[in-house]
Amino acid sequence: MKKIGVLTSGGDSPGMNAAIRAVIRKGIFHDMEVYGIYNGYQGLMAGNIKRLELGSAGDIIQRGGTILFSARSEEFKTEEGQNVAIEQLNKFGIEGLIVIGGDGSFQGAAKLTAKGYPCIGVPGTIDNDIPGTDYTIGFDTALNTIIDAIDKIRDTATSHERTYVIEVMGRNAGDLALWAGLADGAESILIPENENDFEIVVNRLKRGQARGKKHSIIVLAEGVGNGMDYGKQIQDATGMETRVTVLGHIQRGGKPSGFDRVLASRLGAKAVELLLNGEAGKMVGIQNNQLVSHDIIEVLKQKHEIDLDMYRLSNELSI
Ligand code: F6P
Repeated sequence: MKKIGVLTSGGDSPGMNAAIRAVIRKGIFHDMEVYGIYNGYQGLMAGNIKRLELGSAGDIIQRGGTILFSARSEEFKTEEGQNVAIEQLNKFGIEGLIVIGGDGSFQGAAKLTAKGYPCIGVPGTIDNDIPGTDYTIGFDTALNTIIDAIDKIRDTATSHERTYVIEVMGRNAGDLALWAGLADGAESILIPENENDFEIVVNRLKRGQARGKKHSIIVLAEGVGNGMDYGKQIQDATGMETRVTVLGHIQRGGKPSGFDRVLASRLGAKAVELLLNGEAGKMVGIQNNQLVSHDIIEVLKQKHEIDLDMYRLSNELSI
């Protein structure tokens, strides 16, 4: 394989640039031509493709976002869209494609592979919701952004003796909420993977209040529900002054952490190796600190599992 392409798709995540850099440098190291596809699958269909040189990867490892831009494309979900995408790849002579993104992006990679075009998926999403890898690129950075925000909110929660509900991202996964809640010593963590008993949360708050506790932090995963509604219900049920912070897209930006840069570098390079070895329809991941690869279609059939032991621990530690 002499010409490969790389694109980022779906929600951006910190570390995507480090993964792009790894693909460019590893590809060129192996005497390949590397092409950047801009604006995800949408840009691919439009032929928004340019050759990337060694210098294209300079000064990007530390930057959040993605230099290739990202998009969510409805058109690409159609058979016609996928055929146009393959025509564009063939026009540029690109023989294999690396897709950096989340499960929606992997669906696209699986579709192209099924049509005979070799694709490799690199898991890049803050949600950490891709089976077959312990971590996705961007999760660690987003987690630390949330921790930093909650630390700040705790200062003001303490000063004003208030309860705070903090809504975090994660789509249908509770990983960001669980890890951030545990790292921040939150009084309650609400995740979609677990039945969330409102009464338990209220009783815990009241128990704390009776012990003289004046402020509390509740971390709510967006997959559970709306933070504003939840905050109101908590205030009504406890009589405690409650405020709500929805962290929003601040969680997607910023410099990638050291962990994410290293993870992205390893996964990006591994994806190039797979293409060089003639593999297709795979995703790369990390499990028990070992680089792994799995059949992308099999991975898409699986359900992401959260570590419920960690959830139980968080309950034990926040009595
Ligand atoms: O998948 C990443 C993510 O940030 C989710 O956590 C969130 O639900 C979604 O994307 C938000 O999407 P958008 O940026 O399109 O509003």
